[in-house]
Amino acid sequence: MQWSAGAMKPDEPGTGLSTRAVHAGEPEPRPGEPVVTPVVHSATFYTDPVPSGEVLYTRFGTNPNHLVVARKVAALEGAEAALVLASGMAAEAMAILAFAGNGGHIVAQAELYGGTLTLLRQDLAGLGIETTFLPADGDWEAAIRPETAVLYTELPVNPTLRIPDFPRIAEIAARRGLPLLVDATFATPINFRPLEHGATLVTHSATKYLGGHSDLTAGAVAGSAADVERVRQKMKSFGGVLDPQTSWLLERGMKTLAIRVERQNANALALARWLETQPGVAAVYYPGLPSHPDHERARELLDGFGGMLSIVVGGGDDAALRFCSGLRIMRVAPSLGGVDSLVSMPRFTSHTALSREQRHELGIDDGFVRISVGIEDVADLQLDLQQALAAAAETAGVP
Ligand SMILES: Cc1ncc(COP(=O)(O)O)c(C=O)c1O
Repeated sequence: MQWSAGAMKPDEPGTGLSTRAVHAGEPEPRPGEPVVTPVVHSATFYTDPVPSGEVLYTRFGTNPNHLVVARKVAALEGAEAALVLASGMAAEAMAILAFAGNGGHIVAQAELYGGTLTLLRQDLAGLGIETTFLPADGDWEAAIRPETAVLYTELPVNPTLRIPDFPRIAEIAARRGLPLLVDATFATPINFRPLEHGATLVTHSATKYLGGHSDLTAGAVAGSAADVERVRQKMKSFGGVLDPQTSWLLERGMKTLAIRVERQNANALALARWLETQPGVAAVYYPGLPSHPDHERARELLDGFGGMLSIVVGGGDDAALRFCSGLRIMRVAPSLGGVDSLVSMPRFTSHTALSREQRHELGIDDGFVRISVGIEDVADLQLDLQQALAAAAETAGVP
């Protein structure tokens, strides 16, 4: 099979995202060759005495399985290039180090995935890379210093589903000549493509929606070819490459990305609307609801409101624990974006490193439950939520 970029299936006429998810990045078909990309387990590849080809060495992210899936990510994000890595954290860490690794200062929104907060607050701070945190709607311009090297945001925010004012942050980044990095794991390229709105690099935990089946751990970065090369350089040094077998699994998962996300968008919107009418639910966070503080912005920026929603179970953490134990189809697990609906309480998972006060500052109140809505029948999911809410209320002695 030919793996060089020139031997790929042409982008045209397939410009739709579903078509790209299925076909982009794959070699041009030839008689006798497999329809499905084979897994290439070789750690290294023959070259001319002076290496010139794209396919070279697996740790460099240039195994054929890496190239195919990275091109698929790039095609979906509308990016010149992309890179796949060993995890979402590897993608974020390498992307940040590529731009701020020389002791540069970072400006980041305070509402971020807990693992990202730990990376910035502890690990990068320990290396002398300092971060100024501000609310997503805070004064980004005022936080910029002469040594600022990166603006960092996440959209939608885990787990409150806030939507930062991305066009404004991108405008500041462009005017000040600063790279803007965004973690768009929750959005997926089906709902939001940050590069179209001025981002420099978009990162993903491909463990979530891109893989889509909770059966792999991977990360992805997309942007200009030059910027992606900077990230690749860090990945080569720190060694966070994705193995070929998992790249293959990611490629397979990505073929159904569009259809899965469309179903998850529809299921989540229906459940969010219904949950808002339930007396046992103190609050519902979903950008598709007019009650969400960023609803108008979400309508302007997003092509879909996403498969993630959060609720506050009336009665606090004890009631939320009873609610989680009462679920029969949705199950408790600390991840998201797969075909199976999963729930988690951020205080025990993504935001466990934070104090109660810090969680409250981020809008994570007692009784907070995050729901990753899967592709099951929405009527079944609604019944499941209904009986779990009833169980939580009954045990609490609420009539
Ligand atoms: C928004 C977000 N970004 C990044 C990550 C980290 O991804 P991974 O677990 O693949 O390293 C997660 C994981 O939950 C996440 O939710």
